[in-house]
Amino acid sequence: MNDKSENKTKKVVDKHYLSGKEVRAIAKANAMEMRRLEKEKNRKKHESEYIAEMRDANNILEIENLHSYFFTDQGVVKAVNGVSFDIPLNSTVGVVGESGCGKSVTSMSVMRLLQGPTGQIVEGSIRFKAYDFKRDENGNYIPVYELDENGNVIYEPVLDENGAPKLDKSGNPMTQPKQKRDANGLGVYEKEEKIFDIAKMPIKQMYRLRGRQMSMVFQEPMTSLNPIFTIGEQLDEVTLLHVPGSTKAMAKEHSINMLNLVGIAMPERVYKSYPHELSGGMRQRVMIAMALAGEPRLIIADEPTTALDVTIQAQILSLFNDLKKRINGSILLITHDLGVIAEMADYVVVMYAGRIIEKGTASEIFHKPCHPYTQGLQKSKPTMQSNEDKLFNIPGNVPNPINMPDHCYFKERCGKCLAKCSGDYPEMVQVSPTHFVACHLYAEENNNGKR
Ligand SMILES: Nc1ncnc2c1ncn2[C@@H]1O[C@H](COP(=O)(O)OP(=O)(O)O)[C@@H](O)[C@H]1O
Ligand code: SF4
Ligand SMILES: [Mg+2]
Repeated sequence: MNDKSENKTKKVVDKHYLSGKEVRAIAKANAMEMRRLEKEKNRKKHESEYIAEMRDANNILEIENLHSYFFTDQGVVKAVNGVSFDIPLNSTVGVVGESGCGKSVTSMSVMRLLQGPTGQIVEGSIRFKAYDFKRDENGNYIPVYELDENGNVIYEPVLDENGAPKLDKSGNPMTQPKQKRDANGLGVYEKEEKIFDIAKMPIKQMYRLRGRQMSMVFQEPMTSLNPIFTIGEQLDEVTLLHVPGSTKAMAKEHSINMLNLVGIAMPERVYKSYPHELSGGMRQRVMIAMALAGEPRLIIADEPTTALDVTIQAQILSLFNDLKKRINGSILLITHDLGVIAEMADYVVVMYAGRIIEKGTASEIFHKPCHPYTQGLQKSKPTMQSNEDKLFNIPGNVPNPINMPDHCYFKERCGKCLAKCSGDYPEMVQVSPTHFVACHLYAEENNNGKR
């Protein structure tokens, strides 16, 4: 390339606006890519195309090399750019990082709720261990029946709407096999364990997982609750939709149980209320009840306490801690607040500009943070002991998400830069069996055994 043309290219990269021609070229390239990805998302697939295997049987979710992009007219926003982490069974994993680092896009990718066609998962796997209902050859769920001590199916009389036994043509009482019921009175069906790769699943199949297997609690309950339906109607709908064979009466009983479980006093009254009649804390409890109604094994909570004041925040967090034990499931907790993570998480994932820069157990991240960014986050957290007037502030800004540099994204803000930091993006280095960090300071050749 001669000097003149090199200058020309440099000009295009450096300037802060795009010409009409450039915008059109970007839009054309985006349109092609979005069309391809949308087609793939809606393509009919045989289940074998999205059945996967877990790397570790103790995990409920494994995210591997996830890339989720937004195709905008200014360029491609790599909101999630190669994220990998696991959620072990019965654990809480906290994802932390400042605003805009890709936390919500990660959780929306897991639920497959990215707004297409601009928002797309372009690469990676999201493996989820689901307990799916088994189906017979006609596609119907298979009920589990009560057995007597000899292993024979127990039969019960068929009743009409008045509760009287129904008779057949010859006048004999009709009978049917007696289906097993769970503690909430809901019919039990055969289930089987299946591992789905959510990233490859056709979007239409996601109804099998959302609400029933995994559910989400959002930051602002008022935008997630429908103002024109009562709490009861909205809660019942979850049960009616996700629990086969459930009737209105069963759904109501289940909804009231759920409201009780999330610590709502007078659940019968709240059941009949509209969202606007409740306080913020109550609404968030209702949202949690709703997330629990389908009895999911994974709850994704995206900034669940950010809109609440501090005392209510503490109550909701202790509710989550309590629930995790009761539902025998896992929680993916997303927040920008390290205090919330400290209270809740077993494992912590630290994100920066769409990538994971450090991950480990909560104790490793809090007591031995390695990455200069994580160390900065710790320093910027207010503590009872500190008598500083001003809180520590990490200088500088996150780089522009459309034009990410090739080197470490934190370089411009880092006080510990090495010459190497202007080179390639740092690889993930393992510093303990559970602790990983992406920073050149920890690469073998800089380490000299001093870690
Ligand atoms: N619909 C969208 N269109 C374009 N960019 C988006 C969209 N939604 C999110 N982004 C970008 O993706 C990045 C990650 O956003 P997000 O995951 O919401 O951050 P947070 O960590 O605060 O939850 C940000 O740079 C944001 O601007
Ligand atoms: S790789 Fe270099 S610039 Fe990036 S955080 Fe580590 S020391 Fe700082
Ligand atoms: Mg967010």
